[in-house]
Amino acid sequence: MITSPIPPVVPAGHMAKLEQPVLALPSGLELRPWRDSDADALVAAAHEPGIRQWNRLFVASKEEACERIKRMRERWQSEQSAIWAIARPDGGQAVGLIGWGDIDLQGGSAEILYWLLPGGRGRGAMVEATQRLSRWAFEDLGLHRLRLCHAVANSASCRVAEKAGYSIEGTMRSALLHEDGWHDEHLHALVQGDI
Ligand SMILES: CC(C)(COP(=O)(O)OP(=O)(O)OC[C@H]1O[C@@H](n2cnc3c(N)ncnc32)[C@H](O)[C@@H]1OP(=O)(O)O)[C@@H](O)C(=O)NCCC(=O)NCCS
Repeated sequence: MITSPIPPVVPAGHMAKLEQPVLALPSGLELRPWRDSDADALVAAAHEPGIRQWNRLFVASKEEACERIKRMRERWQSEQSAIWAIARPDGGQAVGLIGWGDIDLQGGSAEILYWLLPGGRGRGAMVEATQRLSRWAFEDLGLHRLRLCHAVANSASCRVAEKAGYSIEGTMRSALLHEDGWHDEHLHALVQGDI
Protein backbone atom coordinates (compact mmCIF):
# COMPACT_ATOMS: atom_id res chain seq x y z
CA MET A 1 0.00 0.00 0.00
CA ILE A 2 1.30 3.47 -0.90
CA THR A 3 0.82 6.01 1.90
CA SER A 4 0.36 9.66 1.01
CA PRO A 5 3.31 11.95 1.82
CA ILE A 6 0.71 14.65 2.59
CA PRO A 7 -0.57 14.35 6.17
CA PRO A 8 -4.22 15.00 7.03
CA VAL A 9 -4.78 18.65 8.00
CA VAL A 10 -6.77 17.40 11.01
CA PRO A 11 -6.33 13.77 12.07
CA ALA A 12 -9.46 11.60 11.88
CA GLY A 13 -10.96 11.23 15.35
CA HIS A 14 -9.92 14.68 16.58
CA MET A 15 -13.36 16.25 16.17
CA ALA A 16 -15.31 13.38 17.74
CA LYS A 17 -13.16 13.78 20.86
CA LEU A 18 -14.08 17.47 21.23
CA GLU A 19 -17.10 18.33 23.33
CA GLN A 20 -19.39 20.77 21.52
CA PRO A 21 -18.78 24.06 23.35
CA VAL A 22 -21.22 26.80 24.32
CA LEU A 23 -19.88 30.03 22.82
CA ALA A 24 -20.94 33.49 23.99
CA LEU A 25 -21.54 36.27 21.45
CA PRO A 26 -20.86 39.97 22.18
CA SER A 27 -24.56 40.84 21.75
CA GLY A 28 -25.51 38.52 24.63
CA LEU A 29 -26.79 35.60 22.54
CA GLU A 30 -24.99 32.26 22.68
CA LEU A 31 -24.22 29.33 20.40
CA ARG A 32 -25.12 26.02 22.02
CA PRO A 33 -26.01 22.48 20.92
CA TRP A 34 -29.55 21.91 19.64
CA ARG A 35 -31.96 20.39 22.15
CA ASP A 36 -35.13 18.36 21.62
CA SER A 37 -37.03 21.33 23.10
CA ASP A 38 -35.93 23.39 20.04
CA ALA A 39 -37.99 21.20 17.69
CA ASP A 40 -40.74 23.83 17.33
CA ALA A 41 -38.16 26.43 16.25
CA LEU A 42 -36.93 24.09 13.52
CA VAL A 43 -40.48 23.55 12.27
CA ALA A 44 -41.10 27.33 12.36
CA ALA A 45 -37.90 27.92 10.36
CA ALA A 46 -39.05 25.49 7.68
CA HIS A 47 -42.24 27.54 7.32
CA GLU A 48 -40.42 30.89 7.05
CA PRO A 49 -40.29 31.85 3.35
CA GLY A 50 -36.70 33.20 3.35
CA ILE A 51 -35.26 30.17 5.13
CA ARG A 52 -37.28 27.76 3.02
CA GLN A 53 -36.07 29.53 -0.13
CA TRP A 54 -32.40 30.05 0.66
CA ASN A 55 -31.66 27.17 3.05
CA ARG A 56 -33.94 24.67 1.30
CA LEU A 57 -35.15 23.58 4.73
CA PHE A 58 -38.18 21.29 4.69
CA VAL A 59 -39.35 19.88 8.02
CA ALA A 60 -42.90 18.54 8.03
CA SER A 61 -43.46 17.78 11.71
CA LYS A 62 -42.11 18.03 15.24
CA GLU A 63 -41.12 14.33 15.05
CA GLU A 64 -39.06 15.03 11.94
CA ALA A 65 -37.45 18.01 13.69
CA CYS A 66 -36.48 15.78 16.66
CA GLU A 67 -35.00 13.27 14.21
CA ARG A 68 -32.90 16.02 12.61
CA ILE A 69 -31.69 17.20 16.02
CA LYS A 70 -30.67 13.60 16.82
CA ARG A 71 -28.80 13.43 13.48
CA MET A 72 -26.91 16.63 14.39
CA ARG A 73 -25.44 14.79 17.42
CA GLU A 74 -24.63 11.71 15.34
CA ARG A 75 -22.94 13.79 12.63
CA TRP A 76 -20.70 15.48 15.20
CA GLN A 77 -19.58 12.02 16.28
CA SER A 78 -19.04 10.90 12.66
CA GLU A 79 -17.17 14.20 11.99
CA GLN A 80 -19.47 15.20 9.12
CA SER A 81 -21.04 18.40 10.47
CA ALA A 82 -21.02 20.68 13.52
CA ILE A 83 -24.28 22.56 14.06
CA TRP A 84 -25.17 25.03 16.83
CA ALA A 85 -28.40 26.73 17.88
CA ILE A 86 -28.34 30.52 18.30
CA ALA A 87 -30.31 31.32 21.45
CA ARG A 88 -30.61 33.54 24.50
CA PRO A 89 -28.54 32.19 27.38
CA ASP A 90 -31.57 32.06 29.69
CA GLY A 91 -32.69 28.71 28.28
CA GLY A 92 -34.88 30.19 25.55
CA GLN A 93 -35.65 28.33 22.34
CA ALA A 94 -33.36 28.60 19.34
CA VAL A 95 -33.76 31.72 17.17
CA GLY A 96 -31.30 30.54 14.56
CA LEU A 97 -28.88 27.92 13.34
CA ILE A 98 -25.23 28.12 12.37
CA GLY A 99 -22.61 25.50 11.78
CA TRP A 100 -20.24 23.64 9.54
CA GLY A 101 -21.35 21.24 6.86
CA ASP A 102 -19.30 19.24 4.38
CA ILE A 103 -16.46 18.93 6.91
CA ASP A 104 -13.32 17.50 5.32
CA LEU A 105 -10.76 16.95 8.08
CA GLN A 106 -8.25 15.34 5.71
CA GLY A 107 -8.31 18.36 3.38
CA GLY A 108 -8.90 20.91 6.16
CA SER A 109 -12.08 22.62 4.92
CA ALA A 110 -15.77 23.06 5.67
CA GLU A 111 -18.71 25.19 4.54
CA ILE A 112 -20.72 27.43 6.85
CA LEU A 113 -24.52 27.21 6.97
CA TYR A 114 -26.84 29.64 8.75
CA TRP A 115 -30.29 31.12 9.17
CA LEU A 116 -32.14 33.33 11.65
CA LEU A 117 -35.84 33.37 12.41
CA PRO A 118 -37.30 36.87 11.78
CA GLY A 119 -37.29 37.63 15.54
CA GLY A 120 -33.51 37.23 15.66
CA ARG A 121 -32.73 39.37 12.62
CA GLY A 122 -31.62 42.97 12.23
CA ARG A 123 -29.11 43.05 15.11
CA GLY A 124 -25.93 41.77 13.52
CA ALA A 125 -26.19 38.41 15.30
CA MET A 126 -25.18 36.39 12.25
CA VAL A 127 -22.02 38.41 11.63
CA GLU A 128 -20.98 37.85 15.26
CA ALA A 129 -21.87 34.15 15.11
CA THR A 130 -19.97 33.65 11.84
CA GLN A 131 -16.87 35.36 13.25
CA ARG A 132 -17.01 33.32 16.48
CA LEU A 133 -17.48 29.98 14.72
CA SER A 134 -14.73 30.78 12.23
CA ARG A 135 -12.33 31.27 15.15
CA TRP A 136 -13.49 27.96 16.62
CA ALA A 137 -12.97 26.20 13.27
CA PHE A 138 -9.40 27.50 12.92
CA GLU A 139 -8.25 27.43 16.54
CA ASP A 140 -10.09 24.47 18.08
CA LEU A 141 -10.86 22.21 15.14
CA GLY A 142 -7.74 23.09 13.15
CA LEU A 143 -9.25 23.61 9.69
CA HIS A 144 -7.38 25.63 7.07
CA ARG A 145 -10.01 27.00 4.67
CA LEU A 146 -13.64 27.95 5.36
CA ARG A 147 -16.23 28.47 2.60
CA LEU A 148 -19.39 30.57 2.62
CA CYS A 149 -21.67 30.15 -0.40
CA HIS A 150 -24.93 31.99 -1.01
CA ALA A 151 -27.28 32.64 -3.91
CA VAL A 152 -26.27 35.84 -5.71
CA ALA A 153 -29.88 37.02 -5.24
CA ASN A 154 -29.53 36.76 -1.44
CA SER A 155 -28.07 40.23 -0.71
CA ALA A 156 -28.45 39.94 3.08
CA SER A 157 -26.26 36.83 3.13
CA CYS A 158 -23.68 38.55 0.92
CA ARG A 159 -23.45 41.42 3.46
CA VAL A 160 -23.07 38.93 6.33
CA ALA A 161 -20.19 37.27 4.44
CA GLU A 162 -18.45 40.58 3.71
CA LYS A 163 -18.89 41.93 7.24
CA ALA A 164 -17.58 38.66 8.74
CA GLY A 165 -14.41 39.01 6.65
CA TYR A 166 -15.07 36.34 4.02
CA SER A 167 -13.51 37.56 0.74
CA ILE A 168 -15.47 37.00 -2.43
CA GLU A 169 -13.64 34.63 -4.79
CA GLY A 170 -16.12 34.42 -7.66
CA THR A 171 -19.50 33.36 -8.94
CA MET A 172 -20.40 29.70 -9.38
CA ARG A 173 -22.84 29.49 -12.28
CA SER A 174 -26.08 27.52 -11.87
CA ALA A 175 -24.69 26.14 -8.65
CA LEU A 176 -27.73 25.14 -6.62
CA LEU A 177 -31.27 24.10 -7.46
CA HIS A 178 -33.88 25.98 -5.41
CA GLU A 179 -37.68 25.66 -5.52
CA ASP A 180 -37.83 28.37 -8.20
CA GLY A 181 -35.00 26.98 -10.32
CA TRP A 182 -31.21 27.08 -10.57
CA HIS A 183 -29.34 29.94 -8.87
CA ASP A 184 -25.84 31.27 -9.36
CA GLU A 185 -23.90 31.38 -6.09
CA HIS A 186 -21.14 33.61 -4.74
CA LEU A 187 -18.19 31.77 -3.29
CA HIS A 188 -16.61 33.55 -0.30
CA ALA A 189 -13.79 32.13 1.80
CA LEU A 190 -11.66 32.72 4.87
CA VAL A 191 -8.23 31.10 5.14
CA GLN A 192 -6.00 30.50 8.20
CA GLY A 193 -4.14 33.77 8.80
CA ASP A 194 -6.93 36.00 7.49
CA ILE A 195 -8.10 36.70 11.05
C1 LIG B 1 -29.15 36.12 6.03
C2 LIG B 1 -29.53 36.38 7.49
C3 LIG B 1 -28.91 35.33 8.38
C4 LIG B 1 -28.94 37.74 7.86
O1 LIG B 1 -29.23 38.02 9.20
P1 LIG B 1 -29.82 39.45 9.62
O2 LIG B 1 -29.94 39.51 11.08
O3 LIG B 1 -31.05 39.66 8.80
O4 LIG B 1 -28.68 40.39 9.15
P2 LIG B 1 -28.40 41.84 9.70
O5 LIG B 1 -29.68 42.55 9.97
O6 LIG B 1 -27.40 41.75 10.77
O7 LIG B 1 -27.77 42.51 8.43
C5 LIG B 1 -26.52 42.18 7.94
C6 LIG B 1 -26.27 43.13 6.77
O8 LIG B 1 -27.11 42.74 5.69
C7 LIG B 1 -27.91 43.84 5.29
N1 LIG B 1 -29.22 43.32 4.92
C8 LIG B 1 -30.12 42.75 5.74
N2 LIG B 1 -31.20 42.38 5.02
C9 LIG B 1 -30.95 42.74 3.74
C10 LIG B 1 -31.64 42.59 2.52
N3 LIG B 1 -32.84 41.99 2.48
N4 LIG B 1 -31.07 43.06 1.38
C11 LIG B 1 -29.85 43.65 1.41
N5 LIG B 1 -29.11 43.79 2.54
C12 LIG B 1 -29.67 43.34 3.67
C13 LIG B 1 -27.99 44.74 6.50
O9 LIG B 1 -28.29 46.07 6.15
C14 LIG B 1 -26.60 44.56 7.08
O10 LIG B 1 -25.65 45.31 6.40
P3 LIG B 1 -25.16 46.75 6.96
O11 LIG B 1 -24.68 46.49 8.35
O12 LIG B 1 -24.11 47.15 6.00
O13 LIG B 1 -26.37 47.63 6.97
C15 LIG B 1 -31.07 36.38 7.70
O14 LIG B 1 -31.63 37.45 7.01
C16 LIG B 1 -31.75 35.09 7.27
O15 LIG B 1 -31.70 34.08 7.96
N6 LIG B 1 -32.39 35.12 6.09
C17 LIG B 1 -33.19 34.01 5.56
C18 LIG B 1 -32.38 32.75 5.26
C19 LIG B 1 -31.05 33.00 4.59
O16 LIG B 1 -30.87 33.90 3.81
N7 LIG B 1 -30.08 32.13 4.92
C20 LIG B 1 -28.75 32.21 4.40
C21 LIG B 1 -28.54 31.24 3.30
S1 LIG B 1 -26.91 31.43 2.58
